[in-house]
Amino acid sequence: MAAAGARTGQFITPGDVPAGQPPVTVYPVDPGSRVVRDGSRLNQILLVRCAPDELDEETRARSADGVVAYSGVCTHAGCDVTLWQSETRRFRCPCHESEFDPRDSGRVVGGPAPRRLPRLAVKIVDGVIVAGGGFTGRPGFQPG
Ligand code: FES
Repeated sequence: MAAAGARTGQFITPGDVPAGQPPVTVYPVDPGSRVVRDGSRLNQILLVRCAPDELDEETRARSADGVVAYSGVCTHAGCDVTLWQSETRRFRCPCHESEFDPRDSGRVVGGPAPRRLPRLAVKIVDGVIVAGGGFTGRPGFQPG
């Protein structure tokens, strides 16, 4: 996975995702060509570090060193999930205030979002964070 913004293209290490800090937005990297797949915002991934003993069983199984990964696109109407509630340590969507719990498989804990944020398993390989597969579901808004 690679950083977004000023550090675009740099690989992400566990040290880039410190405990107690807001999520880091990253994009997948093609393992063969090493091209950063940042052409679609549906590819954006939120990484945040949690205490492993706070994670539900499924989330813990998908995590690495407490780092968990979710789609960064809201399942309500597809806005970017850019806010972080530091008191409750939840993701928050700025458009209609849906909230998602990163410790409980991206469960919706407030607002109109109809489903969890899609999850992504992560691993640490050679000191960098890599995806252990694809998202658990299609990211973003899904028309009924
Ligand atoms: S788009 Fe996120 S709450 Fe509506």
